[in-house]
Amino acid sequence: MVCLGNICRSPLAEGILRSKVSGKDVIVDSAGTSGWHIGEPPDERSVEVAEKNGVDLSGQFGRQFTVEDFDRFDKIYAMDMMNYRNVLALARNKADEQKVEMLLNVLYPGEDREVPDPYYGGAHGFQQVYDMLDKACDVIAANLKDD
Ligand code: 4NP
Repeated sequence: MVCLGNICRSPLAEGILRSKVSGKDVIVDSAGTSGWHIGEPPDERSVEVAEKNGVDLSGQFGRQFTVEDFDRFDKIYAMDMMNYRNVLALARNKADEQKVEMLLNVLYPGEDREVPDPYYGGAHGFQQVYDMLDKACDVIAANLKDD
């Protein structure tokens, strides 16, 4: 799960998806395309909306997406077009490129809808983001086979 800062959207997506795939042999992680918040815990507004919905973000700390992530993961979901382009720019080959997808395309194939950046808004924006991520992660979890 990749966003810009790795403190708002992608930590939430990581926590939500992890909660939905427990018992499956899946590694879920998140990163930011920027290095602005490396080592920081998720934004408290993300922590709050997660807690309200029974999702735990503790133990998460910001990190920057690296080219090695193409080797560690089969799927890389970007929150918005800027994140998508910045990740694609690091791809070394076609196989890397094919791992990258706009997250909301799992719900709306081919539409390239974006998960809006809630950083400068209020708590309402975080709930909206939560709801979008929750629906997208339902689809991802349902498509992962049981171990
Ligand atoms: P995120 O949100 O990409 O969902 O983690 C942001 C976090 C921080 C900033 C921008 C977006 N920032 O400008 O520091």
